Amino acid sequence: MKDITINTPLQKSVIHCGEGAFEKYAAELKVRQLFIVTDSNVFAWYRHDIWRAFGDNVPVHIIPAGETSKTVRNLTEILKAMLDSGMNRDCTVVAFGGGVVGDIAGLAASLYMRGVRLVQIPTTLLAQVDSSVGGKTAVDFGGVKNVIGTFYQPEEVIADPCFLSTLPEREIRCGLGEIIKYGALNARILTLLKSNINNLKSTEFLQEIIYQCIKHKAEIVAEDEHDNKGLRKTLNLGHTTGHALELYYRKKSHGEFVLIGMYYELYIAEKLNTCPQNYANSLRNLIKAVIKRIPAYEDVATAADLAKYDKKNSGLDITLIVPESEGKCAEIKLSAEQYTQMLEECALVLKGQA
Ligand code: NAD
Ligand code: GLY
Repeated sequence: MKDITINTPLQKSVIHCGEGAFEKYAAELKVRQLFIVTDSNVFAWYRHDIWRAFGDNVPVHIIPAGETSKTVRNLTEILKAMLDSGMNRDCTVVAFGGGVVGDIAGLAASLYMRGVRLVQIPTTLLAQVDSSVGGKTAVDFGGVKNVIGTFYQPEEVIADPCFLSTLPEREIRCGLGEIIKYGALNARILTLLKSNINNLKSTEFLQEIIYQCIKHKAEIVAEDEHDNKGLRKTLNLGHTTGHALELYYRKKSHGEFVLIGMYYELYIAEKLNTCPQNYANSLRNLIKAVIKRIPAYEDVATAADLAKYDKKNSGLDITLIVPESEGKCAEIKLSAEQYTQMLEECALVLKGQA
């Protein structure tokens, strides 16, 4: 078990990661006034663990599982339930679940009585390597992802791999989506990924890579907590296209769309001579080790239109973060027309390969 600490001006955030972290650190929370937020799947799997750790009288608010739960309506229901349960300013919100629970419960914690303590207990691979760390909270609104949100650091994150054994195969793929993104940002993580390409889902590999990804993210967040110095937006590699496709097609999950977005954006980066072919090929190999067939979207142009809402954009241009060389990425800006045209070209190439 290892700890990683992020010191930001307003809050220290400690991430306990590794086996045994839940057993040890959940017990320490029991003395506080707690409010647990979870989802229907996670509650079905882990209700006994929740009751054992926090007592069977602890208030538990359950949202329906899935991305469509990241709504303003569910947010206000959480706040209402907190009020009805008599939560005061000393209470602690515990987000027990994947990134959906983490994002909405984090937002509720940041709003209730102008902010109460927050602990993240991520139960998906994606949430352990990414969403539970760094304090971004959000709900989707008006057809746009994560458009209402705050920066609000969790006091603690308890990232214990004990929860990963019940994850469906697809959710492991989603977590690997964000992990491969880290590989494109960090040479050490890339080496680990390449040398385990046939072994990406093994427990030993996941334990090591979770720690390495959290460490990378923690360093970035410590430097650029509020995403306004140009550093934190690198964590959004693959996400401009990934988010647009996610909103439009909805059939896959966030982490899978990150990989598909990365694949389409690699095509653009190679075309614009930002990313050399050899390096692009090595990243494509990793992506294909997780998603065998990248979809050749027919109406990618309509989906691409949604990229105009991306928070990295300025003016009318579309901003992409793309791999440049090992451990280095670049920011590129394209007109909406150029962006759409290149995505269409990539879809045509993929169609030809099918
Ligand atoms: P999720 O929370 O929907 O979880 C995926 C599925 O796994 C759900 O059906 C859930 O019920 C189930 N599940 C969770 N834990 C389980 C377990 N241990 N065993 C069995 N089933 C389990 O999705 P996610 O992939 O964890 O998170 C995606 C969300 O995270 C997106 O909304 C995305 O925007 C957000 N995100 C936020 C950040 C951030 O920095 N805040 C970063 C990346 C992603
Ligand atoms: N997942 C992107 C960020 O936390 O900034």
